[in-house]
Amino acid sequence: MKKGTDIALAKQFLAAGELVAIPTETVYGLAANGFNTDAVLKIYKAKNRPAFNPLILHVADVEAAAPLTKIFSEKAKILAQKFWPGPLTLVLPKSDLVPDIVTAGNDTVAIRVPNHDLTLELLKTLHFPLAAPSANPSGYISPTEADHVLQQLGEEVQYVLDGGKCSVGIESTIVKVADDKVFILRLGGLSLEKIEAVVGKTETIINTEITEAPGMLVSHYAPKAKVIIGNIASNIAKYRGNKIGVLSFAKGILSDDIVCTIDLSPKGDTDEAARNIFAYLRKLDERHLDIILTEFIPNEGLGRAVNDRLQRAAAERS
Ligand code: TXA
Ligand code: MG
Repeated sequence: MKKGTDIALAKQFLAAGELVAIPTETVYGLAANGFNTDAVLKIYKAKNRPAFNPLILHVADVEAAAPLTKIFSEKAKILAQKFWPGPLTLVLPKSDLVPDIVTAGNDTVAIRVPNHDLTLELLKTLHFPLAAPSANPSGYISPTEADHVLQQLGEEVQYVLDGGKCSVGIESTIVKVADDKVFILRLGGLSLEKIEAVVGKTETIINTEITEAPGMLVSHYAPKAKVIIGNIASNIAKYRGNKIGVLSFAKGILSDDIVCTIDLSPKGDTDEAARNIFAYLRKLDERHLDIILTEFIPNEGLGRAVNDRLQRAAAERS
């Protein structure tokens, strides 16, 4: 079996420079020894990931993170102490221990302590950090279950550490602390409200990679079907004749003109919508639809990150 809960086996593969998928509270990661350049190269190849897009290093605790950084500022420490383990990635000046291939040549490194028992146990037994992007082919929907990884990267991984369904369901929030200012680089599983309650007002510079490679990664998290955001009822009428699926939020949609409909959260809970969004986009995609109709959800809490993912899933592919 390629999936299971054998931490010793996962460790054995990782120590040998192989790829292992790991569960986290956000999404599954495609992990390799972050100090081993050849192993990290396998991640880029397996995902078909552009070489300019850096990876996150996963460690067991703040103590393991410190040597990977040159400066761990006071504000960064406050965030780490408050939110690790958890869905927060900190971008900090990198130390010489971190290979350039991990940071794609940047002088900063992204680090996080994931909040998942199996993976924390694994990290504690390792003598190296785990470089891990989300375990999906570059540009496709992120995996929130072990089987999602096997479906798409089953050939590339030696083993999937099976930690069940991800409890948060959407990637970590990426935060850069520079000159004592806090910048949000990616909306994610830790809400802006929670971060600002601790460090005050933040500035948002969403997805730096886009400015570094214009247009390249605007489309992301994309199913094969075309995603269209807007009033669902009127779009059903507009696109009649196509094979339509609906991804709604807190509303039942009934129509003879649609193939299927799934609700992100019938009770209107943005956390539940985050937990469901990737698995539901996958379910809809399995129906071989022409179009997925959806609407933005309330822009608060994890709703912001859900809306960000919807927008990218709907973006034109280059
Ligand atoms: O929740 C998560 O963060 C998951 C789990 C597996 O931990 N990982 C994840 O990795 O989402 P990935 O590779 O799919 O997304 C990492 C993001 C990319 O957008 C990358 O550009 C950004 O982190 N990133 C990595 N290093 C960076 C750096 N030094 N400066 C700015 N952005 C960075
Ligand atoms: Mg990803």
